[in-house]
Amino acid sequence: MKCRKCGDAAVIELRRHNAAFCVTDFQEFFRNQVREAIRKHKMFTKDEPVLVAVSGGKDSLALWDVLIDEGYRTTGLYLDLGIFDYSVESKARCEKFAAARSVPLIISKQVTRRPPCSGCGLSKRYLMNRAALEEGMPVVATGHNLDDEAATLFGSVMHWQMDALPRQSPALASTHPKLVRRVKPLYRLSERETAAFAFLRRIDYIVDECPFAVGATSIAHKEILNRMEDAAPGAKHNFLFGFLDKARPVFQRAEAVELKECTRCGQVTTGTLCAFCKLADQVKRAL
Ligand code: AMP
Ligand code: FES
Ligand code: ZN
Repeated sequence: MKCRKCGDAAVIELRRHNAAFCVTDFQEFFRNQVREAIRKHKMFTKDEPVLVAVSGGKDSLALWDVLIDEGYRTTGLYLDLGIFDYSVESKARCEKFAAARSVPLIISKQVTRRPPCSGCGLSKRYLMNRAALEEGMPVVATGHNLDDEAATLFGSVMHWQMDALPRQSPALASTHPKLVRRVKPLYRLSERETAAFAFLRRIDYIVDECPFAVGATSIAHKEILNRMEDAAPGAKHNFLFGFLDKARPVFQRAEAVELKECTRCGQVTTGTLCAFCKLADQVKRAL
């Protein structure tokens, strides 16, 4: 196998792109995909501060690595959810990464009782938004990759979640002064590609999944999509990109929903109590 760019020996084959790359050109390919994502969706500029949500895993640390090299003004955000050894280890990876590159890292400790994993995505989004507002950052970037996005889409389609479909996007604009922009600059890159990039960049990341994520339906959906990808390279890409290009506009709601502020915590909601406060009540009741 030869590198598509320079003809040297290739170290990675990307069947979906019908290409193979050497170490140097793979990294360039990777960075180009991130640049293209940022450009296409006008995610952020070099003048704005960007809050990069880092979990200590390969995706978010690879993302932070690229954004630093590209000259963006980044600050990391690690949410310490108190998940025993997993949080200790993943926080240590983020701290080590930030220290080695002399970039700022905010660590936000969540002291309230941990919600079940079914609510953890919601809680993380809430806490990221709150931290960004507190820090005066207009945009939060997460490490969601092509596999994450395709699996989420698959789950939403399986249940025809009509609220979730229009909101699934590589970039969500701020629709309220208390909601910051949310972007996913790795949405064009697969999990295998982010793992390869993190490895080649010698990033020390946590390999283990969160212990509470084991058995989650998103993992089952990823397995199904991987089987489809094996049979037909590009299946995941076509599923996600086809949705974004052709179907998502159809699902966009014609009438705008009215956004209010949660009567308890002040964050944005369509009801009187926000989903995070409702979840907190449920967790309290269950004890
Ligand atoms: P996950 O939901 O674990 O697949 O993570 C998706 C993305 O959310 C990651 O790539 C990170 O950008 C972000 N994220 C997940 N967990 C944390 C955390 N504990 N602190 C900060 N960001 C996180
Ligand atoms: Fe949901 Fe850890 S509790 S990923
Ligand atoms: Zn090459």
